[in-house]
Amino acid sequence: MANSWGKRKSIASLQREASSSNGLKRSLSSTSLVALGIGAIIGAGLFSLTGIAAAEHAGPAVTISFVLAALGCAFAGLCYAEFASMIPVAGSAYTYSYATMGEFMAWIIGWDLILEYALGAATVGVSWSHYLLELLHTMNIHIPESLVKGPFEGGIINLPAIFIVSLLSLVLIRGTRESAMINNILVVLKVAVVLLFIVLGWSYINPDYHTPYIPENTGVKGVFGWSGIAAGAATVFFAFIGFDAVSTAAQEAKNPQRGMPIGIIGSLLICTILYVLFSHVMTGLVPFEVFKGDAKPAATAFAQTPYTFLQTGLIIAILAGYTSVILVMLLGQSRVFFSMSKDGLLPSFFSHLHPKFATPWKTNVFFMIFVSLFAGFVPVSDLGHMVSIGTLLAFSLVCIGVLVLRKKMPDAPRSFKTPLVPYIPIAGVLVCGYLMYALPLESWIRLIIWMALGVVVYFAYGQKNSKLATGEEQPEDDPAPKED
Ligand code: ALA
Repeated sequence: MANSWGKRKSIASLQREASSSNGLKRSLSSTSLVALGIGAIIGAGLFSLTGIAAAEHAGPAVTISFVLAALGCAFAGLCYAEFASMIPVAGSAYTYSYATMGEFMAWIIGWDLILEYALGAATVGVSWSHYLLELLHTMNIHIPESLVKGPFEGGIINLPAIFIVSLLSLVLIRGTRESAMINNILVVLKVAVVLLFIVLGWSYINPDYHTPYIPENTGVKGVFGWSGIAAGAATVFFAFIGFDAVSTAAQEAKNPQRGMPIGIIGSLLICTILYVLFSHVMTGLVPFEVFKGDAKPAATAFAQTPYTFLQTGLIIAILAGYTSVILVMLLGQSRVFFSMSKDGLLPSFFSHLHPKFATPWKTNVFFMIFVSLFAGFVPVSDLGHMVSIGTLLAFSLVCIGVLVLRKKMPDAPRSFKTPLVPYIPIAGVLVCGYLMYALPLESWIRLIIWMALGVVVYFAYGQKNSKLATGEEQPEDDPAPKED
């Protein structure tokens, strides 16, 4: 049996794939790509986790937590941008690792990305159902609790979460351009509500609630003070997850060399500014302690303004925001599997394109079921951490990938170059590593179990069927660096 695990996919073949577009349509403009990024970014992290991070870790200084988390993402984002402009094919971090660190690392990253995209979609799906319930409540419509909670939480099934995941999977099957169009509308709505919250809330900020801005550490690591700011950053990191989903759609970008860096860095920058302002207002409207255990802190804070009649609108816009996150996460997930399947690491089932819509519809259906099972039955209260740790691992590997690629192919054309190499990638690894370190031990254990399962699947299927192993494709001549 051919051993392909250290072999790297050649950049030339990736670029050929990019120009053939693999049957996917090039329909996304730079603006759509920025919207795609914002679509995946602003969601449960901002509207739910900000309160928890403020109440339990950072107080009003949650704004600094956001900056810290953004910094880690920016370093990784700059590395993503170099790759995405150089290798504009679907699959994102998975594809980049295939070209730089070899097949096994690529598989590891692709498997890891399931945590980010599929579990991310499930997590946000469950949050979506909470806000839906709140909306129905304001309309005096009541659904039995057992139909909104999984069996481990005292219910039977979370039907609304399954509904939204299924609906959006069907939208994705219909077409990428159509999905992007719906996403654009949802993004406008959610950015509008964030801006409205900031503008309307600003004049009601009570400076007393911001004093002291950095509450003194209680003596316990991670509970206020600077260690609290770091712990808060690990929590709100979830709010930034998704900017990298832009790069999964590289093959559907009209002008990927230009659009990728704009989409990735642009969406990250816009969201960081919005997050800092939003959280500053939020902790200025009520004492941050109030947010303890509150799944809807934005609504709680907004209730302090005289604009309570806008509450229903706020909830609808937040629902729209969550919807776009789920949409882009599901899109990202299907594109990663599409690429892995094209490479033979997964069965060809996953790269089968719909004859009319040109979307990988079988993958969409597969993940519709997979994500629905998680969203409908599994308690996702701590799945958020799982999503974060998986994403941080992927980000670190992308940063390392840039270093490897610069060494192996210093002269290959890149329309966007990560500045200050090697410092930015190294800083990216350090910040992401630090945020991983700040996450709970259980997340580490689950990550290790998940990755071990991935290794088994790789050796049972991927390694035997990969196109590099079967000889259907030639690897990069230059051998991959030896693993110690
Ligand atoms: N960044 C996304 C959110 O906050 C995952 O919901």
